[in-house]
Amino acid sequence: MTCRRDPVITIDGPAGAGKSTTAREVARRLGFRLVDTGALYRALAWALMRAGVSPEDEQGVGALLARTTVELADMGDDGGADGGAGWRVLVNGRDVTAEIRTPEIALTTSRLTALRAVRDKMTPLQRGLAAAGGVVLEGRDTGSVVCPDAEVKVYLDADLTERARRRRDELAAHGLPADYESVKAEVALRDRQDMERELAPLRKPPGAVTVDSTALSTEAVVLRILDAVEQARCCTRS
Ligand code: DC
Repeated sequence: MTCRRDPVITIDGPAGAGKSTTAREVARRLGFRLVDTGALYRALAWALMRAGVSPEDEQGVGALLARTTVELADMGDDGGADGGAGWRVLVNGRDVTAEIRTPEIALTTSRLTALRAVRDKMTPLQRGLAAAGGVVLEGRDTGSVVCPDAEVKVYLDADLTERARRRRDELAAHGLPADYESVKAEVALRDRQDMERELAPLRKPPGAVTVDSTALSTEAVVLRILDAVEQARCCTRS
């Protein structure tokens, strides 16, 4: 009575829906690995900004991709800059985990992720990280493009006003205070960029469970996801 392998869980949704906190907690409780795909894309954006290359400069981006490696390094349970999740994101071996959390990096990342060359590099990398199972992938296209055959797919959503409030609090917690209206405008702009792009746009993957976190605690969201995992495990037991 065993499963083929531990399941793959994907959690997609717009900025500020609570994906990071939820995914981290789900992974911790299940003892699964967490793959924050946004962090991988942010790391590329960091490399781009550092090299002074614009996301519109496709040749420049291509050249940068060819000479840049992005990795998630597992640090066990004692992670720090990642909020205790136990991983670091490295660009050519350099730890950029803390530096990739600024609004500027977020907006550049959103533009960068619309490019085919960028997704062609990162999608196989993410699939490789998920291949053995026992993984929680978190992002915008993890259930629709990266792992459409994941055992559990979640679309985590929340109202824009609530997402902007959460994002403002999160920035403040990282020592980056910002006023609510500008955070809300930034979140709305990212929603548009992420949902309207041609390539791997943010949308609910077929077969995904939608969870609206607007009025739910993190604990309630986590329990719903663990419940879906338990149901999927029952279905795949033979
Ligand atoms: O989740 P985040 O804020 O760290 O994501 C940063 C940006 O990267 C965001 O604009 C969406 C984009 N992204 C993406 O296009 N595909 C993913 N799988 C993850 C993130």
